[in-house]
Amino acid sequence: MRIPSSHQPMTTSSAPGKIILFGEHAVVYGRPALAVPVTQVQATATVSENSRGGIMIEAPNINLSAELSSLAPDHPLATIINSVFSILSISNPPPCTVYLQSTIPVASGLGSGAAVSVAIIRALSMFLGQTLSDERVNALAFKAEKLYHGTPSGIDNTVVTYGKPVYFIKRKPIKTFHVGTPFMIMIGGTGMPAPTKESVTAVRKLWESDKPHWEKIFTRVGEIVWNARQAIERGDTIELGRLMDANHSLLQQMTVSCAELDQLVEAARKSGALGAKLSGGGRGGNMIAIVEKENAPAVARALSSAGAKRTILTQVG
Ligand code: MEV
Repeated sequence: MRIPSSHQPMTTSSAPGKIILFGEHAVVYGRPALAVPVTQVQATATVSENSRGGIMIEAPNINLSAELSSLAPDHPLATIINSVFSILSISNPPPCTVYLQSTIPVASGLGSGAAVSVAIIRALSMFLGQTLSDERVNALAFKAEKLYHGTPSGIDNTVVTYGKPVYFIKRKPIKTFHVGTPFMIMIGGTGMPAPTKESVTAVRKLWESDKPHWEKIFTRVGEIVWNARQAIERGDTIELGRLMDANHSLLQQMTVSCAELDQLVEAARKSGALGAKLSGGGRGGNMIAIVEKENAPAVARALSSAGAKRTILTQVG
């Protein structure tokens, strides 16, 4: 164990949000999923020297202002900060303040937890005079995801760490995918938190009650993901929309949709989107729709009238 020989006076790092295009939940059972970063929303960590001593955490978004030592050891922020010290073998860290800011709505399915973790890991390791490889950043962020979500697949931390479109299979090396023609996604937020841990646990209970049946459903999701990847590579947005609808109906069978999400999905389809589905853990959080530039404003208006608390238009590719 050592004290860092030199540290920076102040460092900052930002990480984007993420959205899952296809394959959530089935990805926990080894099927592939597609996800992309959402750069319109960001989490930023700034680490600076302080003169009052100790390690301070300031996170106004979640009303947290505390000394690291006062947090429970399994608090996700404490886990992240302590694991950076541990991986860098630093026993006596210099007094500093970790200041967190985020425009990513918390518990919304936009990867806010993963983005906060990645931003802290990068800013803190730079403050301590070291740069960690993406692989190590990803592994540390995954540790915190397990505290937030129980049995996560690792997709959120992977997309957020690498900041690029990802064709993800649990425990396999990261693969990106080619986007033939850029396309637009409209994200609609229910404004209700997405309880990812709960929805992942609910799907696990279903799976345990009838493994052959649910394995078949997950395999169908896997096929949709594979076909979606091909459609993205050849720029076929019509097919992509159809596949989104099919994926949403399998997610409904998994019981992870809810009336509010279904209403937004329906409103998007009726207002001219090429297809729509929930995105992420479900039972709240977000839905996404494939839109064309010309009908994006109409879809956004329809989503707002159907109860969306927020819409974000993002381009993939
Ligand atoms: C959450 O963003 C995606 C889920 O598939 C859970 C996971 O992959 O860890 C629901």
